[in-house]
Amino acid sequence: MTVPGNLHKTPTEPGDSPLTEPPENSLPAPPAVANHPAVQSSAQPDPVGCEPSSPLIRLEDIHFQYEGQPPLFQGLAFQLRAGEKLGIIGANGSGKTTFLLMLMGLVQPQRGMIEIFGRVRSRPGDFDDLPGKIGLLFQDSDDQLFCPTVAEDVAFGPFNQGKSVVEVRQIVRRTLAELGLEGWENRITYRLSGGEKRLVALATVLAMDPQVLLLDEPTAGLDPTASARVESILASLPQAMIIVSHDRDFLERLCHRILILREGIFFPYPKQDARS
Ligand SMILES: Nc1ncnc2c1ncn2[C@@H]1O[C@H](COP(=O)(O)OP(=O)(O)OP(=O)(O)O)[C@@H](O)[C@H]1O
Ligand SMILES: [Mg+2]
Repeated sequence: MTVPGNLHKTPTEPGDSPLTEPPENSLPAPPAVANHPAVQSSAQPDPVGCEPSSPLIRLEDIHFQYEGQPPLFQGLAFQLRAGEKLGIIGANGSGKTTFLLMLMGLVQPQRGMIEIFGRVRSRPGDFDDLPGKIGLLFQDSDDQLFCPTVAEDVAFGPFNQGKSVVEVRQIVRRTLAELGLEGWENRITYRLSGGEKRLVALATVLAMDPQVLLLDEPTAGLDPTASARVESILASLPQAMIIVSHDRDFLERLCHRILILREGIFFPYPKQDARS
Protein backbone atom coordinates (compact mmCIF):
# COMPACT_ATOMS: atom_id res chain seq x y z
CA MET A 1 0.00 0.00 0.00
CA THR A 2 1.04 3.61 -0.37
CA VAL A 3 2.27 5.06 2.88
CA PRO A 4 1.03 8.58 3.52
CA GLY A 5 3.84 11.01 3.89
CA ASN A 6 6.40 8.71 2.34
CA LEU A 7 9.60 10.71 2.38
CA HIS A 8 11.70 8.20 0.52
CA LYS A 9 14.47 10.15 -1.13
CA THR A 10 16.43 9.50 -4.23
CA PRO A 11 19.62 8.05 -2.80
CA THR A 12 22.85 9.81 -3.49
CA GLU A 13 26.18 8.09 -3.76
CA PRO A 14 27.65 7.30 -0.36
CA GLY A 15 30.34 9.62 0.76
CA ASP A 16 32.37 9.79 3.90
CA SER A 17 30.07 8.06 6.37
CA PRO A 18 30.19 9.76 9.76
CA LEU A 19 29.85 6.48 11.54
CA THR A 20 32.68 4.46 10.25
CA GLU A 21 35.53 6.93 10.02
CA PRO A 22 36.83 8.43 13.27
CA PRO A 23 37.78 11.00 14.43
CA GLU A 24 34.50 12.19 15.81
CA ASN A 25 34.98 15.82 14.88
CA SER A 26 34.83 14.83 11.24
CA LEU A 27 31.21 13.83 11.68
CA PRO A 28 28.71 15.93 9.79
CA ALA A 29 25.27 16.70 11.17
CA PRO A 30 22.66 13.96 10.84
CA PRO A 31 20.40 14.09 7.77
CA ALA A 32 17.80 16.85 8.08
CA VAL A 33 14.70 14.81 7.43
CA ALA A 34 13.11 15.68 10.73
CA ASN A 35 9.58 14.73 9.79
CA HIS A 36 10.18 11.19 8.62
CA PRO A 37 7.37 9.25 10.28
CA ALA A 38 9.60 6.58 11.74
CA VAL A 39 12.31 8.69 13.23
CA GLN A 40 11.19 12.08 14.45
CA SER A 41 12.89 13.63 17.42
CA SER A 42 12.00 12.40 20.86
CA ALA A 43 14.57 14.28 22.87
CA GLN A 44 11.84 15.80 25.06
CA PRO A 45 11.15 14.38 28.52
CA ASP A 46 9.27 11.13 28.54
CA PRO A 47 5.54 11.89 28.67
CA VAL A 48 4.57 8.39 29.68
CA GLY A 49 2.61 8.94 32.84
CA CYS A 50 0.08 6.19 32.85
CA GLU A 51 -0.38 3.76 35.69
CA PRO A 52 1.76 0.63 35.39
CA SER A 53 -1.37 -1.46 35.06
CA SER A 54 -3.11 0.76 32.51
CA PRO A 55 -2.80 -0.09 28.81
CA LEU A 56 -0.06 1.57 26.79
CA ILE A 57 -2.43 1.71 23.84
CA ARG A 58 -6.22 1.67 23.99
CA LEU A 59 -8.68 2.03 21.13
CA GLU A 60 -12.45 2.13 21.42
CA ASP A 61 -15.15 1.96 18.74
CA ILE A 62 -12.86 2.86 15.85
CA HIS A 63 -14.54 3.42 12.49
CA PHE A 64 -12.43 4.06 9.43
CA GLN A 65 -12.66 3.92 5.66
CA TYR A 66 -10.38 5.22 2.94
CA GLU A 67 -12.03 7.79 0.73
CA GLY A 68 -14.21 6.10 -1.86
CA GLN A 69 -13.61 2.66 -0.28
CA PRO A 70 -15.95 0.46 1.78
CA PRO A 71 -15.62 0.64 5.61
CA LEU A 72 -12.42 -1.00 6.86
CA PHE A 73 -12.78 -0.73 10.65
CA GLN A 74 -16.24 -1.00 12.08
CA GLY A 75 -16.27 -0.52 15.84
CA LEU A 76 -12.77 -1.88 16.40
CA ALA A 77 -11.48 -2.06 19.99
CA PHE A 78 -7.93 -2.87 21.09
CA GLN A 79 -5.56 -2.81 24.06
CA LEU A 80 -1.82 -3.31 24.43
CA ARG A 81 -0.30 -3.67 27.88
CA ALA A 82 3.25 -3.06 29.07
CA GLY A 83 5.58 -5.88 28.11
CA GLU A 84 2.97 -7.61 26.00
CA LYS A 85 3.93 -9.24 22.70
CA LEU A 86 0.78 -9.20 20.64
CA GLY A 87 0.43 -10.88 17.26
CA ILE A 88 -2.01 -9.78 14.57
CA ILE A 89 -3.08 -11.99 11.70
CA GLY A 90 -5.66 -11.39 8.99
CA ALA A 91 -6.31 -11.80 5.30
CA ASN A 92 -4.63 -9.60 2.71
CA GLY A 93 -6.44 -6.29 2.67
CA SER A 94 -8.08 -6.80 6.07
CA GLY A 95 -6.46 -3.60 7.39
CA LYS A 96 -3.44 -4.75 9.43
CA THR A 97 -1.04 -2.22 7.95
CA THR A 98 -3.68 0.52 8.13
CA PHE A 99 -4.15 -0.30 11.82
CA LEU A 100 -0.44 0.22 12.55
CA LEU A 101 -0.39 3.45 10.55
CA MET A 102 -3.38 4.64 12.58
CA LEU A 103 -1.47 4.11 15.83
CA MET A 104 1.21 6.48 14.53
CA GLY A 105 -1.36 9.07 13.45
CA LEU A 106 -0.62 8.49 9.76
CA VAL A 107 -4.26 7.77 9.03
CA GLN A 108 -7.13 9.25 11.05
CA PRO A 109 -10.27 7.34 12.02
CA GLN A 110 -13.59 8.98 11.22
CA ARG A 111 -14.92 7.95 14.64
CA GLY A 112 -13.64 6.46 17.88
CA MET A 113 -11.04 6.99 20.58
CA ILE A 114 -7.26 6.42 20.46
CA GLU A 115 -5.39 6.62 23.76
CA ILE A 116 -1.61 6.13 23.77
CA PHE A 117 0.63 6.45 26.83
CA GLY A 118 -2.40 7.63 28.83
CA ARG A 119 -3.25 10.50 26.46
CA VAL A 120 -6.20 10.66 24.08
CA ARG A 121 -5.01 11.47 20.56
CA SER A 122 -7.69 12.95 18.33
CA ARG A 123 -5.87 15.26 15.90
CA PRO A 124 -2.79 14.63 13.73
CA GLY A 125 -0.64 16.92 15.94
CA ASP A 126 -1.48 14.77 18.97
CA PHE A 127 0.83 12.06 17.61
CA ASP A 128 3.90 14.26 17.20
CA ASP A 129 5.69 12.93 20.28
CA LEU A 130 5.35 9.27 19.28
CA PRO A 131 8.04 8.64 16.64
CA GLY A 132 11.11 7.49 18.50
CA LYS A 133 8.99 6.32 21.44
CA ILE A 134 7.00 4.01 19.20
CA GLY A 135 9.07 2.38 16.47
CA LEU A 136 7.25 1.37 13.31
CA LEU A 137 8.75 -1.15 10.93
CA PHE A 138 7.01 -0.39 7.65
CA GLN A 139 5.73 -3.28 5.55
CA ASP A 140 7.70 -1.89 2.61
CA SER A 141 11.36 -1.33 3.54
CA ASP A 142 11.66 1.34 0.86
CA ASP A 143 9.35 3.49 3.00
CA GLN A 144 11.87 3.20 5.86
CA LEU A 145 15.26 3.62 4.23
CA PHE A 146 16.19 6.92 2.67
CA CYS A 147 19.88 7.53 3.36
CA PRO A 148 22.76 6.64 1.04
CA THR A 149 24.42 4.16 3.39
CA VAL A 150 23.33 1.64 5.97
CA ALA A 151 25.19 3.45 8.77
CA GLU A 152 23.45 6.73 8.04
CA ASP A 153 20.02 5.11 7.97
CA VAL A 154 20.59 3.30 11.28
CA ALA A 155 22.12 6.42 12.85
CA PHE A 156 19.33 8.74 11.81
CA GLY A 157 16.88 7.87 14.61
CA PRO A 158 19.41 7.92 17.49
CA PHE A 159 20.79 11.25 16.23
CA ASN A 160 17.28 12.67 16.29
CA GLN A 161 16.84 11.36 19.81
CA GLY A 162 19.70 13.64 20.83
CA LYS A 163 22.40 10.97 21.23
CA SER A 164 26.04 12.00 20.90
CA VAL A 165 28.20 10.97 17.99
CA VAL A 166 30.09 8.50 20.17
CA GLU A 167 26.86 6.95 21.43
CA VAL A 168 25.40 6.77 17.94
CA ARG A 169 28.48 5.07 16.57
CA GLN A 170 28.24 2.44 19.32
CA ILE A 171 24.52 1.97 18.73
CA VAL A 172 25.03 1.50 14.99
CA ARG A 173 27.79 -1.04 15.49
CA ARG A 174 25.92 -2.95 18.19
CA THR A 175 22.58 -3.00 16.37
CA LEU A 176 24.11 -4.19 13.11
CA ALA A 177 26.07 -6.88 14.96
CA GLU A 178 22.93 -8.11 16.73
CA LEU A 179 21.27 -8.60 13.37
CA GLY A 180 24.31 -10.33 11.87
CA LEU A 181 25.18 -7.32 9.74
CA GLU A 182 28.70 -6.62 11.01
CA GLY A 183 30.67 -4.41 8.70
CA TRP A 184 27.65 -3.29 6.67
CA GLU A 185 28.07 0.37 7.62
CA ASN A 186 29.19 1.55 4.19
CA ARG A 187 26.91 -0.63 2.10
CA ILE A 188 24.71 1.32 -0.27
CA THR A 189 21.15 1.04 0.93
CA TYR A 190 19.33 1.15 -2.37
CA ARG A 191 21.50 -1.63 -3.78
CA LEU A 192 20.61 -4.11 -1.03
CA SER A 193 18.40 -7.11 -1.76
CA GLY A 194 14.86 -7.20 -0.41
CA GLY A 195 15.79 -9.37 2.57
CA GLU A 196 18.87 -7.29 3.30
CA LYS A 197 16.76 -4.13 3.26
CA ARG A 198 14.34 -5.80 5.65
CA LEU A 199 17.13 -6.41 8.16
CA VAL A 200 18.51 -2.89 7.84
CA ALA A 201 15.01 -1.44 8.20
CA LEU A 202 14.63 -3.45 11.41
CA ALA A 203 17.99 -2.13 12.56
CA THR A 204 16.77 1.46 12.11
CA VAL A 205 13.84 0.69 14.41
CA LEU A 206 15.79 -1.25 17.05
CA ALA A 207 18.52 1.41 17.13
CA MET A 208 16.04 3.86 18.64
CA ASP A 209 15.21 1.48 21.51
CA PRO A 210 11.56 2.54 21.38
CA GLN A 211 9.14 1.89 24.22
CA VAL A 212 6.73 0.10 21.88
CA LEU A 213 7.52 -1.73 18.64
CA LEU A 214 5.04 -1.95 15.76
CA LEU A 215 6.38 -4.53 13.34
CA ASP A 216 4.67 -5.05 10.00
CA GLU A 217 5.79 -8.48 8.79
CA PRO A 218 9.28 -8.37 10.32
CA THR A 219 10.41 -11.70 8.86
CA ALA A 220 8.92 -11.34 5.38
CA GLY A 221 11.51 -12.22 2.76
CA LEU A 222 14.12 -13.39 5.28
CA ASP A 223 16.01 -16.67 4.97
CA PRO A 224 15.64 -19.18 7.85
CA THR A 225 18.84 -18.08 9.60
CA ALA A 226 17.98 -14.39 9.50
CA SER A 227 14.39 -15.12 10.46
CA ALA A 228 15.49 -17.15 13.51
CA ARG A 229 17.85 -14.39 14.52
CA VAL A 230 15.11 -11.77 14.32
CA GLU A 231 12.80 -14.01 16.32
CA SER A 232 15.40 -14.49 19.01
CA ILE A 233 16.06 -10.74 19.23
CA LEU A 234 12.36 -9.94 19.50
CA ALA A 235 11.90 -12.67 22.12
CA SER A 236 14.66 -11.15 24.22
CA LEU A 237 13.32 -7.59 24.14
CA PRO A 238 11.28 -6.45 27.15
CA GLN A 239 9.27 -3.85 25.24
CA ALA A 240 5.63 -4.21 24.33
CA MET A 241 5.22 -5.00 20.65
CA ILE A 242 2.58 -5.54 18.03
CA ILE A 243 3.70 -7.96 15.36
CA VAL A 244 1.78 -8.34 12.12
CA SER A 245 2.61 -11.55 10.29
CA HIS A 246 1.17 -14.24 8.07
CA ASP A 247 3.51 -16.75 9.78
CA ARG A 248 1.32 -18.16 12.50
CA ASP A 249 3.95 -20.51 13.89
CA PHE A 250 6.30 -17.57 14.34
CA LEU A 251 3.61 -15.62 16.21
CA GLU A 252 2.71 -18.70 18.26
CA ARG A 253 6.24 -19.01 19.52
CA LEU A 254 6.77 -15.33 20.18
CA CYS A 255 3.51 -13.80 21.32
CA HIS A 256 1.53 -13.81 24.54
CA ARG A 257 -1.65 -13.20 22.61
CA ILE A 258 -2.79 -13.29 18.98
CA LEU A 259 -5.70 -11.39 17.45
CA ILE A 260 -7.28 -11.89 14.07
CA LEU A 261 -8.52 -8.86 12.15
CA ARG A 262 -11.64 -9.79 10.27
CA GLU A 263 -14.52 -7.69 8.93
CA GLY A 264 -13.25 -4.59 10.63
CA ILE A 265 -12.79 -5.81 14.20
CA PHE A 266 -10.38 -7.94 16.23
CA PHE A 267 -11.23 -11.43 17.42
CA PRO A 268 -9.11 -13.44 19.87
CA TYR A 269 -7.15 -16.12 18.08
CA PRO A 270 -6.93 -19.32 20.09
CA LYS A 271 -3.22 -20.07 20.20
CA GLN A 272 -3.80 -23.72 20.97
CA ASP A 273 -5.76 -24.11 17.69
CA ALA A 274 -3.24 -22.38 15.50
CA ARG A 275 -1.40 -25.52 14.46
CA SER A 276 -4.46 -27.62 13.72
N1 LIG B 1 -4.14 4.93 0.71
C1 LIG B 1 -5.15 4.10 0.43
N2 LIG B 1 -6.25 4.54 -0.24
C2 LIG B 1 -7.29 3.72 -0.51
N3 LIG B 1 -7.33 2.43 -0.12
C3 LIG B 1 -6.28 1.94 0.55
C4 LIG B 1 -5.13 2.75 0.86
N4 LIG B 1 -4.27 2.00 1.54
C5 LIG B 1 -4.82 0.79 1.65
N5 LIG B 1 -6.02 0.74 1.06
C6 LIG B 1 -6.93 -0.40 1.01
O1 LIG B 1 -7.30 -0.71 2.35
C7 LIG B 1 -7.39 -2.11 2.54
C8 LIG B 1 -6.50 -2.51 3.72
O2 LIG B 1 -5.14 -2.35 3.33
P1 LIG B 1 -3.95 -2.78 4.30
O3 LIG B 1 -2.71 -2.48 3.58
O4 LIG B 1 -4.18 -2.14 5.61
O5 LIG B 1 -4.20 -4.35 4.42
P2 LIG B 1 -3.30 -5.47 5.10
O6 LIG B 1 -4.18 -6.25 6.02
O7 LIG B 1 -2.08 -4.87 5.67
O8 LIG B 1 -2.94 -6.39 3.84
P3 LIG B 1 -1.62 -7.29 3.53
O9 LIG B 1 -1.75 -8.57 4.32
O10 LIG B 1 -1.71 -7.54 2.06
O11 LIG B 1 -0.41 -6.49 3.90
C9 LIG B 1 -7.01 -2.74 1.21
O12 LIG B 1 -8.18 -3.09 0.52
C10 LIG B 1 -6.26 -1.64 0.48
O13 LIG B 1 -6.43 -1.74 -0.91
MG1 LIG C 1 -0.09 -5.04 5.25
